[in-house]
Amino acid sequence: MAEHIRVLLAEDEVDKRIQEIGAQISKDYEGKQVHLVCVLKGGSFFMCELAKRITVPVSLDFMSVSSYGGDTKSSGVVKIVKDLDESLKDKHVIVVEDIVDSGRTLSYLLEMLRDRGPASMRLCTLLDKPDRRVVDVNVDYTGFSIPDEFVVGYGLDYDQKYRNLPYIGIVEFD
Ligand code: IMP
Ligand code: MG
Repeated sequence: MAEHIRVLLAEDEVDKRIQEIGAQISKDYEGKQVHLVCVLKGGSFFMCELAKRITVPVSLDFMSVSSYGGDTKSSGVVKIVKDLDESLKDKHVIVVEDIVDSGRTLSYLLEMLRDRGPASMRLCTLLDKPDRRVVDVNVDYTGFSIPDEFVVGYGLDYDQKYRNLPYIGIVEFD
């Protein structure tokens, strides 16, 4: 099936919002160091741009979990593919995600990370699809709330494609 991409959020809109979130985080964490935890692969583009906009000291770590196969429906199965390199003990952790959809992946992940003894833990997501929520998750920083459409770009993929688009688009099938 052929597909094409319709722009939902243009590059300058996304960049502007990331700057705003970076400024907010810098203010909220004044005098502290933040430890950004990126959920691969989708969160990586957002995390890099966000980290550049934070003015307090930043450290980074990466992990990878999977809940999706090659299609657009959540399997509900969450598996840790790559764990963090560093301990979270006593750190001010911000988990950085590309999108919160059903919330299944994140509720599992946040519970697991909370057990590792961070000084604090917050969640920051570029996109939120509130209409799709199945499991309740508390989001501290949201880039954009979007309608229930399958989106790509800025780290988000459809079948591993389109992560590199510098904007957010909706996948439409011809
Ligand atoms: P959740 O557990 O259903 O919240 O799934 C979250 C994960 O599903 C995200 O981190 C993405 O990897 C993927 N996902 C959910 N919605 C989309 C979408 O619209 N486009 C691309 N990936 C998505
Ligand atoms: Mg993700």
